[in-house]
Amino acid sequence: MNIERFYISKIVVAMLFICVNIFAQEAGLSEAEKFYGTELKSPKKVQHPPFEWGDCTVCHTDAKGEEALIMEPPELCAMCHEAKDTKKFIHGPVAAGACTTCHNPHESDNAKLLVASSINELCVSCHQDKDAFLRDTPNIHPPVKDQCTNCHDPHTEDHLYQLKADGKKDLCVMCHVDKEIWTSTVTDKHGALDRPRKCLECHDPHGSTNPKFLIKDTSKELCLSCHSESLTRDENGDKLLNIGKHLENNPDWHGPILWGDCAACHNPHGSNNLSMLNKPFPRTFYEKFEEDNYICFQCHEKEKIMDENTTTATNFRNGSSNMHFVHVNKEKGRSCRACHDFHGTKEYPHHLRAKTKFGKINFPIRFIETENGGSCAPACHARRHYDKVTPKVNLK
Ligand code: HEC
Ligand code: HEC
Ligand code: HEC
Ligand code: HEC
Ligand code: HEC
Ligand code: HEC
Ligand code: HEC
Ligand code: HEC
Ligand code: HEC
Ligand code: HEC
Ligand code: HEC
Repeated sequence: MNIERFYISKIVVAMLFICVNIFAQEAGLSEAEKFYGTELKSPKKVQHPPFEWGDCTVCHTDAKGEEALIMEPPELCAMCHEAKDTKKFIHGPVAAGACTTCHNPHESDNAKLLVASSINELCVSCHQDKDAFLRDTPNIHPPVKDQCTNCHDPHTEDHLYQLKADGKKDLCVMCHVDKEIWTSTVTDKHGALDRPRKCLECHDPHGSTNPKFLIKDTSKELCLSCHSESLTRDENGDKLLNIGKHLENNPDWHGPILWGDCAACHNPHGSNNLSMLNKPFPRTFYEKFEEDNYICFQCHEKEKIMDENTTTATNFRNGSSNMHFVHVNKEKGRSCRACHDFHGTKEYPHHLRAKTKFGKINFPIRFIETENGGSCAPACHARRHYDKVTPKVNLK
């Protein structure tokens, strides 16, 4: 046998040994243990010291432990342990003094004398709806899959549901520290976080069938659950556009909205840009053109606006003269908002808006599409034409 073969056969034997061992261990596990794990399981029996001492009369009225207890839990346990019902919210079985539904008073195979080999198996032994939830829900929040006690105290706490901190936000940011910093320092904060349920307005703390544990199928449905009325912007009492109604009245929706993804452009936790956008966008009608100032270029090619002359980058051109460049790419450049609506439109193609707001007035743009171009006559300007094939001459 050559040396290589020798080692290969050793490895094969070792692997077989490991497999058989894992199989033997697995085989000894209950179905629940396989699903929930066995993190509490102790290599040797855990004995409760007063039981280990052998003097049964510490707790029983007789030495054989066959007769009554000298007193019932929780008073019995409180002889030696701190009371477990001292805070504002008390877990059902603790309030009922049923310590022994979770702890074996004598000995156990598990740490803390618990009656199950993992925390989650213990919890779902009574909370059976959560057992079904954990098994059937595709996206479970990792700390929930790990141990319910990451967030809930098994006995008593000062917060609703025996949570370790207020479950609506304080609890979340104990772990998601970045969200605490972000939501409190961004310039454009989201009013959703001032609603009574804060983070839970949008997320399910345990998990959900949706990505990021959202309580609605898509971010669009989630957003529209609040933005189907004219909400008031905090500082100045301004009314926000009723997006739900706007989309209903303007059925030609912009791509990301068709996919149901408002978060493609907006950060639901607030941002430092206009209207909580993920990337900057001009705040005013006219702004000096800067490539980095347009969230649009996350999805659209910037050549549309950057190339002064083109025969391919855009259809908004007069011959090869790029009309996007002419309108947008300059010192006093117009925002895309002047001509497009990024949510939805109806009258015109290419998400061209029917009216554009300039100062306090809403001017109609009066777009007319032609075979190779189009024309518009915004406000009191004369009609201007563009044509990809036969450039038009527009008088000043
Ligand atoms: C720390 C207190 C404590 C000590 C010490 C203790 N027991 Fe118990 N024992 C209990 C409690 C509490 C129960 C009731 C369990 C329940 O509610 O299911 C119990 C129940 C029992 C029972 C009834 C059957 C069962 O297991 O539920 C027997 C038998 C028993 N004990 C035997 C003993 C013996 C023997 C000793 C001494 C070696 C002993 N116990 C020491 C607390 C104690
Ligand atoms: C006579 C005193 C005494 C009584 C009564 C008593 N315990 Fe204990 N218990 C102890 C001691 C001592 C320890 C080991 C020290 C420790 O871990 O706190 C202990 C440990 C424990 C532990 C494990 C703690 C750990 O960190 O591993 C649990 C759980 C527990 N007891 C529950 C109970 C419950 C439930 C009762 C009532 C049914 C009870 N005890 C009654 C003395 C007592
Ligand atoms: C719903 C199940 C449940 C009930 C009921 C319960 N416990 Fe516990 N207990 C736990 C779990 C789970 C832990 C382990 C906590 C951990 O490791 O974070 C624990 C830990 C403990 C400990 C050790 C750590 C500590 O907090 O001091 C003691 C002592 C204890 N329990 C006593 C009691 C007493 C006394 C009662 C009755 C008043 C009681 N428990 C009722 C689940 C329970
Ligand atoms: C022995 C059964 C039992 C076990 C084990 C158990 N619970 Fe409970 N739990 C209850 C009961 C009973 C209530 C009270 C239900 C009510 O008031 O509607 C309750 C209430 C709760 C509540 C508050 C629910 C509400 O609607 O007010 C939470 C949260 C909770 N349990 C979490 C846990 C966690 C986490 C664990 C595991 C550490 C656990 N439970 C283990 C029986 C149990
Ligand atoms: C990441 C923290 C976290 C973890 C881990 C966690 N929970 Fe919760 N739980 C919460 C919050 C927050 C609420 C309050 C939800 C609300 O107000 O609607 C809650 C509420 C509950 C409630 C009462 C409302 C309901 O949904 O029925 C129960 C019962 C409960 N949790 C059980 C569990 C069980 C069982 C586990 C482990 C499988 C667990 N929780 C793990 C954060 C958590
Ligand atoms: C005990 C720590 C802990 C607490 C408390 C906690 N989380 Fe988490 N959360 C995690 C961990 C760990 C992950 C997985 C790692 C990651 O993606 O950041 C996670 C992931 C998430 C994710 C998905 C992240 C992703 O990119 O896929 C969301 C959403 C989330 N948590 C929201 C919440 C909310 C809302 C709360 C409060 C109800 C909360 N978390 C409380 C630890 C925690
Ligand atoms: C729970 C209700 C609620 C949900 C859900 C919600 N919002 Fe809001 N949103 C508000 C409130 C209230 C305001 C008004 C206060 C403010 O300006 O922040 C607001 C304001 C806004 C603003 C204007 C911010 C500004 O100051 O210019 C935008 C943009 C916005 N939301 C987008 C979204 C998006 C995108 C979603 C979905 C990811 C969403 N919202 C989900 C309640 C909600
Ligand atoms: C207005 C609804 C809304 C509120 C309120 C909200 N979220 Fe989110 N959250 C979302 C959406 C939508 C996503 C998915 C974003 C995406 O797909 O890009 C998300 C993603 C996340 C993520 C994972 C991705 C990331 O940005 O890190 C975490 C973690 C998270 N949220 C935590 C929180 C916490 C903590 C709070 C409370 C401080 C909170 N969220 C409040 C809607 C919300
Ligand atoms: C393609 C990017 C994009 C998508 C997707 C998008 N938005 Fe917007 N949204 C914007 C831009 C850009 C603004 C700034 C509006 C302006 O300047 O007129 C804005 C503004 C807003 C405003 C503030 C309106 C006001 O009156 O100031 C709200 C509210 C809003 N969006 C909600 C939503 C909702 C809800 C969705 C999903 C249905 C969504 N947005 C999807 C780009 C987008
Ligand atoms: C002065 C009005 C105006 C402004 C400002 C404007 N556009 Fe356009 N845009 C048009 C017209 C008109 C069309 C339709 C061209 C055609 O197909 O005839 C168009 C078409 C488009 C198209 C479709 C593909 C193409 O290029 O033909 C995209 C994408 C687009 N614009 C993005 C933007 C972006 C991003 C901005 C801001 C950086 C912007 N537009 C600014 C008028 C404008
Ligand atoms: C997350 C990706 C994404 C972002 C960001 C984005 N768009 Fe779009 N846009 C699309 C998709 C996909 C389409 C094609 C579907 C459609 O016509 O709506 C599209 C189409 C368009 C059209 C119509 C094209 C045509 O030929 O009819 C215009 C105009 C437009 N976008 C303008 C903008 C403007 C202005 C912005 C910046 C505020 C922007 N988009 C940001 C994805 C995006």
